Amino acid sequence: MKNILITGGAGFIGTNFAHYLSRHSPQYKLTIIDSCNYAGDEQNLSDIQDKITFIKGDIANIELMDGLVAKNDAIVHFAAESHNDNSLNNPWPFVQSNILGTYSILEGVRKHNKRLHHISTDEVFGDLSLDDPARFTENTPYNPSSPYSSTKASSDLLVRAWIRSFGVKATISNCSNNYGPYQHIEKFIPRQITNIISGIKPKLYGSGEQVRDWIHVDDHNAAVALILEKGKLGETYLIGADGEKNNKEVVETILKLMGKKTTDYEHVKDRPGHDMRYAIDSTKLRTELGWQPKYTTFEDGLAQTIEWYQQNQDWWKPQKDQVEAKYSAQGQ
Ligand code: NAD
Ligand code: TYD
Repeated sequence: MKNILITGGAGFIGTNFAHYLSRHSPQYKLTIIDSCNYAGDEQNLSDIQDKITFIKGDIANIELMDGLVAKNDAIVHFAAESHNDNSLNNPWPFVQSNILGTYSILEGVRKHNKRLHHISTDEVFGDLSLDDPARFTENTPYNPSSPYSSTKASSDLLVRAWIRSFGVKATISNCSNNYGPYQHIEKFIPRQITNIISGIKPKLYGSGEQVRDWIHVDDHNAAVALILEKGKLGETYLIGADGEKNNKEVVETILKLMGKKTTDYEHVKDRPGHDMRYAIDSTKLRTELGWQPKYTTFEDGLAQTIEWYQQNQDWWKPQKDQVEAKYSAQGQ
């Protein structure tokens, strides 16, 4: 494997993945395709621009993807519409990018017999209750709740069918909630950090008791690189770093780390159909491939992330008013 095509490489996780590979695996030649929707920006890759080829385009464009897949040895597929709240307002782009986009990549991969790693989420499994000791495993049945998670589930099922029916050389990973640099400020953690910097109170949906299983984006990407190189074809791997925290705890930790009173937040309208809890059992990835997270202390990863948003205000400030106006129009 030499030439790697990264879809969605100008978004949050894909940008970090391109940086990760250029640091850890300089032998790869990287091509990035991204349509640069509101969450993707080619500028995120400016410091590695001499090491990559960037193509602005839509993964749902079958001809474009056919040509790009043909020219590469492996495809790491991150591109997606990724925000639950947006999917509740307008599901169509989610159907287009997440389902049709994955279909278009799969057809290229099938025709040209290339290696695919498909990136997905633990949200395909639906949610767990707070008092349930269970965690998701590779055998948990799919039961997605939102338009976002159901389109991701659809894309996973397409990949599974292409593996079984056509023998495509693919792996799938389902990861829990990521945090770290370059995450769009519509998402929970960066929204609260940039709220505090902007003098706005952090906003908790509903009770704030919902639990997410947080993982640093670099730990996710290290797992993806490992699966790409050593994963068994046809298999699914769950990625998670034992990082369960409820939303209230996360907001209180951010406030504490930013030197504010830990009670200085407000409750806002809940998300319709809000999933209560996600939790990953990553035993398979750890035992079969030897992966371990490097960020074992959430507070350290969070402190580094806060510092990044403090030092990169030009990156997010131009979008802040618009993002907050959209949320406030829906009572959030
Ligand atoms: P993001 O929204 O920050 O980035 C997605 C990127 O995909 C953007 O740059 C966007 O421009 C691009 N894109 C969207 N539609 C496209 C299209 N039709 N053609 C080309 N490019 C397109 O999202 P993210 O958080 O970086 O998520 C990346 C992947 O990881 C997604 O597949 C998501 O489902 C998955 N995932 C995310 C998390 C998380 O916590 N953020 C957790 C698990 C899995
Ligand atoms: P989010 O970052 O949107 O990720 P996901 O919906 O994929 O889990 O939200 C994480 C959690 O934070 C989720 O329970 C919703 C909640 N949340 C808030 O409480 N306040 C906010 O302002 C946002 C954006 C999310």
